[in-house]
Amino acid sequence: MTAVVDVWLVDTRTPFESTLDAEELRRRDALRLSEDRRRFDAAHSALRRILEPRVGAVRWSRGPNGKPHLAGEPCQVNLSHAGEWAAIAVTDARPVGVDLQDAVAGLDYAAMARRFFPPAEAEFVAARGAEAFALLWARKEAVVKAAGDRLTRGLLLPVAGDPPPAVTHDGTGYTLADLAAPDGFRAAVALAGPEPFSIRRH
Ligand SMILES: CC(C)(COP(=O)(O)OP(=O)(O)OC[C@H]1O[C@@H](n2cnc3c(N)ncnc32)[C@H](O)[C@@H]1OP(=O)(O)O)[C@@H](O)C(=O)NCCC(=O)NCCS
Repeated sequence: MTAVVDVWLVDTRTPFESTLDAEELRRRDALRLSEDRRRFDAAHSALRRILEPRVGAVRWSRGPNGKPHLAGEPCQVNLSHAGEWAAIAVTDARPVGVDLQDAVAGLDYAAMARRFFPPAEAEFVAARGAEAFALLWARKEAVVKAAGDRLTRGLLLPVAGDPPPAVTHDGTGYTLADLAAPDGFRAAVALAGPEPFSIRRH
Protein backbone atom coordinates (compact mmCIF):
# COMPACT_ATOMS: atom_id res chain seq x y z
CA MET A 1 0.00 0.00 0.00
CA THR A 2 1.31 3.48 -0.85
CA ALA A 3 2.48 5.34 2.25
CA VAL A 4 0.68 8.60 3.05
CA VAL A 5 2.29 11.69 4.55
CA ASP A 6 -0.22 14.04 6.16
CA VAL A 7 0.90 17.66 5.93
CA TRP A 8 -0.45 20.76 7.66
CA LEU A 9 0.56 24.33 6.86
CA VAL A 10 -0.03 26.44 9.94
CA ASP A 11 -0.51 30.20 9.70
CA THR A 12 0.83 31.27 13.10
CA ARG A 13 -1.12 34.56 12.90
CA THR A 14 -4.42 32.68 13.26
CA PRO A 15 -5.78 32.84 16.84
CA PHE A 16 -5.18 29.56 18.69
CA GLU A 17 -5.46 27.99 22.11
CA SER A 18 -2.05 27.29 23.64
CA THR A 19 -1.55 23.63 24.66
CA LEU A 20 2.19 23.60 25.42
CA ASP A 21 3.63 21.29 28.08
CA ALA A 22 6.12 22.48 30.71
CA GLU A 23 9.21 21.86 28.55
CA GLU A 24 7.68 23.62 25.55
CA LEU A 25 6.69 26.57 27.77
CA ARG A 26 10.29 26.76 28.99
CA ARG A 27 11.58 26.79 25.41
CA ARG A 28 8.99 29.36 24.31
CA ASP A 29 9.75 31.69 27.21
CA ALA A 30 13.48 31.56 26.48
CA LEU A 31 12.87 33.22 23.09
CA ARG A 32 13.75 36.91 23.14
CA LEU A 33 11.20 38.29 20.67
CA SER A 34 7.48 38.17 21.43
CA GLU A 35 6.70 37.33 17.79
CA ASP A 36 9.04 34.33 17.96
CA ARG A 37 7.32 33.21 21.19
CA ARG A 38 3.93 33.46 19.45
CA ARG A 39 5.14 31.56 16.38
CA PHE A 40 6.68 28.80 18.51
CA ASP A 41 3.51 28.51 20.60
CA ALA A 42 1.23 28.38 17.55
CA ALA A 43 3.35 25.72 15.81
CA HIS A 44 3.81 23.46 18.83
CA SER A 45 0.19 23.82 19.97
CA ALA A 46 -0.91 22.82 16.45
CA LEU A 47 1.46 19.85 16.59
CA ARG A 48 -0.11 18.67 19.85
CA ARG A 49 -3.63 19.10 18.48
CA ILE A 50 -2.68 17.00 15.46
CA LEU A 51 -0.86 14.27 17.37
CA GLU A 52 -3.10 13.75 20.40
CA PRO A 53 -5.99 12.09 18.53
CA ARG A 54 -3.43 9.87 16.80
CA VAL A 55 -1.17 8.77 19.66
CA GLY A 56 -2.86 9.90 22.88
CA ALA A 57 -0.38 11.49 25.30
CA VAL A 58 2.48 13.10 23.39
CA ARG A 59 5.91 12.24 24.83
CA TRP A 60 9.11 13.30 23.03
CA SER A 61 12.56 11.82 22.91
CA ARG A 62 15.45 13.30 20.88
CA GLY A 63 17.92 11.80 18.43
CA PRO A 64 21.66 12.53 18.54
CA ASN A 65 21.30 15.79 16.55
CA GLY A 66 18.17 16.91 18.33
CA LYS A 67 15.42 15.45 16.09
CA PRO A 68 12.27 15.03 18.22
CA HIS A 69 10.68 11.55 18.01
CA LEU A 70 7.46 10.31 19.56
CA ALA A 71 8.69 8.07 22.38
CA GLY A 72 7.45 4.50 22.06
CA GLU A 73 5.39 5.22 18.92
CA PRO A 74 5.98 4.06 15.34
CA CYS A 75 4.30 7.27 14.11
CA GLN A 76 6.87 9.67 12.56
CA VAL A 77 6.66 13.43 12.62
CA ASN A 78 8.62 16.53 11.66
CA LEU A 79 8.11 20.29 11.93
CA SER A 80 9.52 23.32 10.11
CA HIS A 81 9.22 27.06 10.80
CA ALA A 82 9.59 29.88 8.25
CA GLY A 83 8.37 33.42 8.84
CA GLU A 84 4.72 33.36 9.92
CA TRP A 85 4.29 29.77 8.73
CA ALA A 86 4.95 26.31 10.10
CA ALA A 87 4.76 23.00 8.25
CA ILE A 88 4.01 19.72 10.01
CA ALA A 89 4.41 16.27 8.44
CA VAL A 90 3.08 13.08 10.06
CA THR A 91 3.22 9.52 8.73
CA ASP A 92 2.79 5.98 10.02
CA ALA A 93 6.25 4.43 10.03
CA ARG A 94 8.96 5.74 7.68
CA PRO A 95 11.22 8.54 9.01
CA VAL A 96 10.02 11.85 7.57
CA GLY A 97 11.49 15.32 7.14
CA VAL A 98 9.76 18.52 6.09
CA ASP A 99 11.24 21.89 5.27
CA LEU A 100 9.72 25.25 4.49
CA GLN A 101 12.02 27.98 3.14
CA ASP A 102 11.42 31.68 2.72
CA ALA A 103 12.79 32.86 -0.65
CA VAL A 104 13.90 36.11 0.98
CA ALA A 105 14.82 38.82 -1.51
CA GLY A 106 18.14 40.55 -0.98
CA LEU A 107 20.42 37.58 -0.28
CA ASP A 108 23.06 36.78 -2.88
CA TYR A 109 21.66 33.37 -3.80
CA ALA A 110 24.02 32.75 -6.67
CA ALA A 111 27.03 33.26 -4.35
CA MET A 112 25.52 31.05 -1.66
CA ALA A 113 24.78 28.29 -4.17
CA ARG A 114 28.35 28.54 -5.55
CA ARG A 115 29.68 28.19 -2.05
CA PHE A 116 27.44 25.41 -0.72
CA PHE A 117 25.82 23.48 -3.60
CA PRO A 118 27.25 21.12 -6.27
CA PRO A 119 28.42 23.09 -9.37
CA ALA A 120 25.47 22.06 -11.59
CA GLU A 121 23.02 23.30 -8.94
CA ALA A 122 24.93 26.57 -8.58
CA GLU A 123 24.46 27.13 -12.32
CA PHE A 124 20.76 26.29 -12.02
CA VAL A 125 20.34 28.85 -9.21
CA ALA A 126 22.33 31.51 -11.11
CA ALA A 127 19.90 31.07 -14.03
CA ARG A 128 16.66 30.75 -12.04
CA GLY A 129 17.14 32.93 -8.91
CA ALA A 130 15.90 33.02 -5.33
CA GLU A 131 12.98 30.62 -5.64
CA ALA A 132 15.19 27.94 -7.23
CA PHE A 133 17.65 28.36 -4.38
CA ALA A 134 14.87 28.06 -1.79
CA LEU A 135 13.45 24.95 -3.49
CA LEU A 136 16.79 23.11 -3.61
CA TRP A 137 17.58 24.16 -0.06
CA ALA A 138 14.18 22.89 1.14
CA ARG A 139 14.74 19.52 -0.59
CA LYS A 140 18.21 19.10 0.97
CA GLU A 141 17.02 20.11 4.40
CA ALA A 142 14.00 17.79 4.18
CA VAL A 143 16.38 14.84 3.55
CA VAL A 144 18.69 15.86 6.39
CA LYS A 145 15.70 16.22 8.70
CA ALA A 146 14.27 12.84 7.72
CA ALA A 147 17.67 11.39 8.64
CA GLY A 148 17.79 13.37 11.90
CA ASP A 149 21.14 14.75 10.79
CA ARG A 150 22.72 18.23 10.62
CA LEU A 151 22.11 20.71 7.82
CA THR A 152 25.81 21.09 7.05
CA ARG A 153 25.95 17.40 6.06
CA GLY A 154 23.27 17.79 3.40
CA LEU A 155 24.18 20.82 1.33
CA LEU A 156 26.14 18.86 -1.28
CA LEU A 157 23.35 16.31 -1.81
CA PRO A 158 22.21 16.51 -5.47
CA VAL A 159 18.49 17.28 -5.44
CA ALA A 160 17.81 19.20 -8.68
CA GLY A 161 15.42 17.75 -11.25
CA ASP A 162 11.75 17.55 -12.09
CA PRO A 163 10.49 15.41 -10.47
CA PRO A 164 13.06 15.50 -7.67
CA PRO A 165 15.55 12.62 -7.82
CA ALA A 166 15.95 9.79 -5.31
CA VAL A 167 18.66 10.75 -2.80
CA THR A 168 21.02 8.58 -0.77
CA HIS A 169 22.33 9.99 2.49
CA ASP A 170 24.58 7.93 4.79
CA GLY A 171 23.60 4.74 2.97
CA THR A 172 19.83 5.26 3.26
CA GLY A 173 17.64 6.12 0.28
CA TYR A 174 15.08 8.93 0.52
CA THR A 175 12.15 9.81 -1.71
CA LEU A 176 11.46 13.52 -2.16
CA ALA A 177 8.34 15.47 -3.09
CA ASP A 178 7.77 19.21 -3.37
CA LEU A 179 4.95 20.74 -1.38
CA ALA A 180 2.71 23.60 -2.41
CA ALA A 181 3.74 26.51 -0.17
CA PRO A 182 2.53 30.08 0.49
CA ASP A 183 3.66 32.79 -1.97
CA GLY A 184 7.38 33.50 -1.59
CA PHE A 185 8.09 30.16 0.10
CA ARG A 186 9.22 26.77 -1.13
CA ALA A 187 8.72 23.48 0.70
CA ALA A 188 9.61 19.80 0.41
CA VAL A 189 9.00 16.49 2.17
CA ALA A 190 11.45 13.57 2.30
CA LEU A 191 10.52 10.05 3.33
CA ALA A 192 13.03 7.26 4.07
CA GLY A 193 12.93 4.44 1.54
CA PRO A 194 12.56 4.20 -2.23
CA GLU A 195 8.82 3.48 -2.39
CA PRO A 196 6.66 6.37 -3.63
CA PHE A 197 4.28 8.09 -1.24
CA SER A 198 1.32 10.39 -1.48
CA ILE A 199 0.77 13.67 0.33
CA ARG A 200 -2.55 14.49 1.97
CA ARG A 201 -2.87 18.24 2.63
CA HIS A 202 -4.88 19.61 5.55
C1 LIG B 1 17.79 20.24 11.93
C2 LIG B 1 18.11 21.56 11.28
C3 LIG B 1 18.55 21.30 9.84
C4 LIG B 1 16.84 22.42 11.31
O1 LIG B 1 17.11 23.73 10.95
P1 LIG B 1 16.09 24.94 11.24
O2 LIG B 1 16.56 26.12 10.48
O3 LIG B 1 15.85 25.08 12.69
O4 LIG B 1 14.83 24.44 10.47
P2 LIG B 1 13.32 24.11 10.66
O5 LIG B 1 12.53 25.27 11.14
O6 LIG B 1 12.93 23.53 9.35
O7 LIG B 1 13.22 22.90 11.72
C5 LIG B 1 13.20 23.09 13.11
C6 LIG B 1 12.46 21.92 13.74
O8 LIG B 1 12.99 20.67 13.30
C7 LIG B 1 13.00 19.73 14.39
N1 LIG B 1 14.40 19.31 14.55
C8 LIG B 1 15.37 19.75 15.39
N2 LIG B 1 16.55 19.09 15.14
C9 LIG B 1 16.30 18.24 14.13
C10 LIG B 1 17.12 17.30 13.42
N3 LIG B 1 18.42 17.12 13.68
N4 LIG B 1 16.54 16.59 12.42
C11 LIG B 1 15.23 16.76 12.13
N5 LIG B 1 14.40 17.63 12.76
C12 LIG B 1 14.95 18.36 13.74
C13 LIG B 1 12.44 20.44 15.61
O9 LIG B 1 11.06 20.12 15.70
C14 LIG B 1 12.60 21.92 15.24
O10 LIG B 1 11.56 22.74 15.74
P3 LIG B 1 11.58 23.31 17.25
O11 LIG B 1 12.96 23.83 17.50
O12 LIG B 1 10.51 24.36 17.27
O13 LIG B 1 11.25 22.11 18.12
C15 LIG B 1 19.30 22.32 11.99
O14 LIG B 1 18.83 22.83 13.20
C16 LIG B 1 20.47 21.39 12.29
O15 LIG B 1 21.33 21.18 11.43
N6 LIG B 1 20.50 20.83 13.52
C17 LIG B 1 21.51 19.87 13.93
C18 LIG B 1 22.20 20.31 15.20
C19 LIG B 1 23.02 21.54 14.91
O16 LIG B 1 23.99 21.49 14.19
N7 LIG B 1 22.56 22.66 15.44
C20 LIG B 1 23.18 23.93 15.23
C21 LIG B 1 22.30 24.83 14.37
S1 LIG B 1 22.60 24.65 12.60
